Amino acid sequence: MKRSIGPKKIKTAVFISGKGSNLKNLIKFSKFKKYPFSVNLILSNTKKAKGLKYSNQYRIEKKIINYDKKIKTDKKILYFLNQKKIKLICLAGFMKILSKNFIKKFKGKIINIHPSLLPKYKGLNTHFRTIKNREKFSGCTVHYVTSKLDSGKIILQKKVKISKKDDHISLAKKILKKEHLIYPAAIKKILN
Ligand code: GRF
Repeated sequence: MKRSIGPKKIKTAVFISGKGSNLKNLIKFSKFKKYPFSVNLILSNTKKAKGLKYSNQYRIEKKIINYDKKIKTDKKILYFLNQKKIKLICLAGFMKILSKNFIKKFKGKIINIHPSLLPKYKGLNTHFRTIKNREKFSGCTVHYVTSKLDSGKIILQKKVKISKKDDHISLAKKILKKEHLIYPAAIKKILN
């Protein structure tokens, strides 16, 4: 996906379910001239997501979506996205699976960050499984979202060395630091 000519930033929505450290980091980078996107909408499937606080802090609109009724959910999200003229969706710790239909409608415009060196360790509990298998390296990956879980084309990846002392908590911390480097860089890469 290429940016149209000119200094205009691509309007982006960030979908979260938890802490939102990636969200906060993307907001920070979006303020730099060199990064061709702005965060215009924060969407969460739960009001418990701690990252929702960044909506007030940075004056970015937030929407909380009830995922119980799937079809209506898609329609609602699409309505909000159109309303805000969103052109890119960044999933950042979003714990719901988007429907095939939704992904089709936003084809090539949804990206995700996953805390492993994909295609290894798709899905949940990545750090735990990585440590259990005595891997020497792990890392993080930004990839396009397709209807197959954590399987879309890779945009950027960063490797992290696992030390003998690492457990799943220390590894998660190490990787999160790298996530904060590659997510904004990946957006820049696809938009420039
Ligand atoms: C990150 O590790 C991300 O890779 C994974 O969920 C975590 C979200 O962290 N998908 P945060 O909410 O951005 O702090």
